[in-house]
Amino acid sequence: MSVEATHDRAMLQAAPAGEIIHPAWVRITHWINAIAVAVMIGSGWEIYNASPLFPFVFPRAITLGGWLAGALLWHFAAMWVLVVNGLCYLALGIATGRFRRKLVPLRPGEVWADATAALSGKLSHADLSIYNAVQKLLYLGVILAGIVIVLSGISIWKPVQLKGLTAFFGGYDAARYVHFCAMAAIVGFLVIHISMSLLVPSSLRAIIAGR
Ligand code: HEM
Ligand code: HEM
Repeated sequence: MSVEATHDRAMLQAAPAGEIIHPAWVRITHWINAIAVAVMIGSGWEIYNASPLFPFVFPRAITLGGWLAGALLWHFAAMWVLVVNGLCYLALGIATGRFRRKLVPLRPGEVWADATAALSGKLSHADLSIYNAVQKLLYLGVILAGIVIVLSGISIWKPVQLKGLTAFFGGYDAARYVHFCAMAAIVGFLVIHISMSLLVPSSLRAIIAGR
């Protein structure tokens, strides 16, 4: 779809001024998730340092927990917050029709058109109530990465009780790599996501105040 077409679509469906862009449940689950993910990443890096999968470790200054046991405590505490909050977000996203309205359909042609428009500075952010195809791709992608990191995390937490799940990921060692790669994908998403929200401050206001 051309830039103009995306723009027209945005104009046609533009929300009346002052209308809520993100309902309270989206904002509350979003910020609880942001805190839980920050704790999971910081403690995960400390856990990683105790037995690195690759020839590098994370600087102590950016890890959480101080040592392996402390990091595991943080990881398993925030895990409950992440999972309960994530299930609320997914259930409400499906039940209210938000995912159907905002995140699908996702067409490769539109992703390409919107990505090239964004990179040449021509993508409109005038109507924050509509996600462009790149946003749809990134949000669906991070939701998928979230599901993969939780399932792989559970499989390395209880590998004996959940043999089937661990086997699904190719065994304990492979599940560790899957868990790590999902973390890397989420961190990559966050670099783009946080940069964009700073470049388009009205979007940051909307995810805090709703409009
Ligand atoms: C239900 C959710 C989760 C569970 C049950 C879980 C469980 C675990 C367990 C048991 C380990 C230790 C693996 C080992 O002994 O080597 C671990 C490591 C780790 N976790 Fe999680 N985790 C979860 C979510 C997350 C999330 C959301 C992130 C980050 C976004 C994350 C990042 C990491 C990292 C970076 C490591 C170190 C990787 C390694 O060296 O194996 N985890 N996790
Ligand atoms: C400092 C951290 C964060 C900031 C500043 C931030 C900012 C924002 C902003 C401005 C939006 C509005 C959407 C838009 O107009 O594009 C948003 C939505 C969203 N963010 Fe974040 N975010 C943060 C952390 C996270 C984390 C950790 C995740 C997941 C791992 C995440 C996932 C999402 C998703 C999936 C949406 C779409 C929600 C929906 O419409 O249902 N964000 N965020």
